[in-house]
Formats: sequence, C-alpha cells, structure tokens
Amino acid sequence: MSIPVVTVGDSREDLVGRLERLHGPVSVVRRCSELAELLAACQGGLARAAVVAQGSEELTASLVDRLSAVGVAVLALTDSPEEKARLQGIGVDTDITGVDAAALASRIAGAVARLAGPDPRLRRADGPGSTDAPTPGRSGAAAAEGPGATPGHSGRAAAAGPEGSGAGQIIAVWGPAGSPGRTMLAANMAAELAAEGKSVLLVDADSYGASVAAMLGLLDEAAGLAQACRLADQGLLDAEALLRIAAPVVTRAGTFRVLTGITRADRWTELRAAALSLVLARARQVVDVTVVDTGFCLESDEELSFDTMAPRRNAATLRSLELADTVFAVGAADSIGVPRLVRGLAELEAAVPQASPRVVLNKVRQSAVGRSPERQLRDAWERYGPTAPLSAFLPADPVSSDAALLSGSLLLEAAPDSPLRKGIAGLVCAPVQQNSRSSVFSTTAKRLLKG
Ligand SMILES: Nc1ncnc2c1ncn2[C@@H]1O[C@H](COP(=O)(O)OP(=O)(O)OP(=O)(O)O)[C@@H](O)[C@H]1O
Ligand SMILES: [Mg+2]
Repeated sequence: MSIPVVTVGDSREDLVGRLERLHGPVSVVRRCSELAELLAACQGGLARAAVVAQGSEELTASLVDRLSAVGVAVLALTDSPEEKARLQGIGVDTDITGVDAAALASRIAGAVARLAGPDPRLRRADGPGSTDAPTPGRSGAAAAEGPGATPGHSGRAAAAGPEGSGAGQIIAVWGPAGSPGRTMLAANMAAELAAEGKSVLLVDADSYGASVAAMLGLLDEAAGLAQACRLADQGLLDAEALLRIAAPVVTRAGTFRVLTGITRADRWTELRAAALSLVLARARQVVDVTVVDTGFCLESDEELSFDTMAPRRNAATLRSLELADTVFAVGAADSIGVPRLVRGLAELEAAVPQASPRVVLNKVRQSAVGRSPERQLRDAWERYGPTAPLSAFLPADPVSSDAALLSGSLLLEAAPDSPLRKGIAGLVCAPVQQNSRSSVFSTTAKRLLKG
C-alpha cells in the first residue's frame, strides 16, 4: 500500500512533483503552504509521513512529537550540516535538497517503519524495574501527551537524541500530595551521590510547587529546567549549553549541578514531554546520575481535554517517571500519609507500569504511629496489601531538617551525623546492600521482631 505523504515547501527541481510522478511506494496527498496547515492535515489523519522541503528551521521537538503522536514520521531536506545536526537532534530524518525522488521515497518508507517499531525511549538501563519490553498503553508518551496519541509513538525519535542515550542513570523521586518529603529526599540524594564522587544533576520537575531552589538557598529566578527545555525543543541543547544553564551547588563534600524549577505554577506549559525527554537524554550523556524531583499528580488529562495536541499538565512528572531507571516513592509515615501513598502507588502502577518503585516511609515517629513505629508501619503495610514492598524508613528529624532549611544547605552539612542523613545516604550510596531488600529495613525489622 502506498504511504500517504503531506509536504510543505518545495525543493529545487520540483522534487515533490517528481515524488508524485513516481506512482510508487508513496503518494503525495497534500501540498501545504505552511507548517500549521501540514500539522492540521496530519491531525486529520491524512498522512503517515511529512516532508518538509523548505523552512525546516521552524521544526521543533514539540512539533515533531505532536506529529509522531498521530503516527506521522517527519523528513526534512537541508544542505546545511548545522541544520542537519539540529534536525537529527530533535528526531527528524534528513536528506539533501537535491535528493533523487526514488531515494527520498525509500527514506520516507524507512522513517515510517521506524516510527511503527518498538520505542527506544522506554528502554531503560539495567537497574531496579528495568525492562526491555515496555508495556504498551498508558505507559507511553501517549499517556502524557493526550487521548489521540498513538501509544508508544509520541516523542519517540525526539527522545533518542543525536548521540544515543548516554550511560548516566536517572533517579526519579515521587510521592503523593501532602509534602511527604520528595524535595528533601531528592536534594539530599543528589548531595550524597556528589559526595561519593559522582557527577550529579538535580532537576526540579515539580510543575505544581517547585522548591529545589528555595531548599538549597539559591536566589534563582532563572527556571533552569524551562530554559533547558526551550533549547532542547529547538534542538540546541548540547552538553555545553546544559552545563551553562545548570547552576553549580557547592557543598563541603562535593559539587553538583541543579536545573531549578518553574517560578510560577502557571508556567507548566514550558515543561513539555518531548523537550524534557531531550533534556534527560542529554543529562545521561553529561553526568553519572540525574536526580529528578517530580510533582505529586499522575493524572494523564485524558478525561480533562479533548484537544489531543494540548500540552499536558503532568507531562513533566509522567515523562520523568517513564524515563527513570529507579523510582523512589516517598510517603509520610502517619495516618494521612500512608493511605495516600497506598492509593498513589496504585495510580503510579496504572500510569507508569514499568516504574517498580522503591517505597520509602519518611518522617517516621512514635508520636504519630505509636510505640515501635517501624513495626507498626510494616504491619499496617501488610494489612493494606499494596504490591510494592517497603524499602526503607527515614526518621522524623525536624531539628536537622529545619537546620538545613534555615541555612539553605544539605543534611551532610547541617546535620552530618543525623540518622536522617545516614538513611538517605544508605538509599543511594550502598546499592549492593539496598538491592537485597534494603539494609535499613531489614536490620530494623529484625531488631524490632527480636524485641
Ligand atoms: N524526615 C523528616 N523529618 C522532619 N522534617 C522533614 C523530613 N522530611 C521532610 N521534612 C520537612 O517537611 C517539609 C516538606 O518537605 P519537602 O518540601 O521535601 O516535601 P515535598 O514532598 O517536596 O512537598 P511539596 O508538595 O511541597 O513538593 C519541609 O519542611 C521539610 O524540611
Ligand atoms: Mg517538593
């Protein structure tokens, strides 16, 4: 069957005309006068491929993502090496303007076949919850991008980036509403990893209440993540640009970098999934570990919007969780926080089935739970019956937490000997022990059971 193609612009020598005259594997169903018309035609289901013969400079990662979400592969013609590199960086196949019509037709067929293949973006590196066979359906970018999206299609090419995926790991820290300690955990994990000698990037992807900058005492109005997303969308976020935007945070034990969050919640549209995928792909190439502080909300907006191409309110959180190698789910250890976490884990399982979170109960204290709080919590956890086991308990430590907040510093500086600091370090800095079901949990449980 012939592949329906829409085009915009025309190369020299009437390439589109010659493509039409091929009567072969592709058929040009519409010649558009501008990209907006091309997008509308694709959203109407007219085409499987789009050829941008002129004006490729207007293509962005978000636009390519929107096209791939409706199953349309994009191919652009350019003779500029810089533009070619930029286009490939945002997931666009390219060829020269003088390309032969038959060769172009076979490039189009190849691009369409690749778009229909498995989604490399959802393939994770080794690690807890890693999978080679991503679950289709809501787990794909489609879940984050809209009801009309084709599962597993959206953002596929854009996520890959020009130089492959990179070897760095991504840790996402998520938790339900009610301030369970996502930011505290993410920031201190970043600091502990840096203290271990790893190169680390902390990313504030909470589109409701970004607070990494405030927690670290940064006077930041720059919204580093939004800046990085803007450049990534244009295909211009190289390693140098990422490092320029990411502010260094110097601690006594090591330095890490931070992409601060949006300065107002209504700027969430600046954190689009396609661009964020590129930012995280670049981060994988630049640092050993990227720690992402996410928002609480996992709704995919499907019921909220009939506009399939509208930006998605929770795209930044959902995409971060989809891309993470390790997901930590943190809940507050009290009678409000635990049921919320249990319900939230069910939502997480539905929204991002491949997440396999490591569950952390934070702010563990006798005054909220009763005597032997860890044992009480473990018993309660078993009664609620969530599938994910508890991985670790972190103690309530308002004195250390407040000291860190007051000085805009990390626990390793403000309270280096505190059990809270040591518990967080143990989560990220002792992976061998942690993999055998958390030393923090098992020693505590053993002790409690004996007592
Ligand atoms: N283990 C702990 N002991 C005492 N206080 C804590 C602990 N963990 C976090 N806190 C405090 O709880 C408050 C909320 O923490 P944090 O901002 O990390 O939560 P969050 O889940 O990111 O919330 P938000 O919904 O605002 O994003 C902060 O004042 C923090 O210092
Ligand atoms: Mg937070």
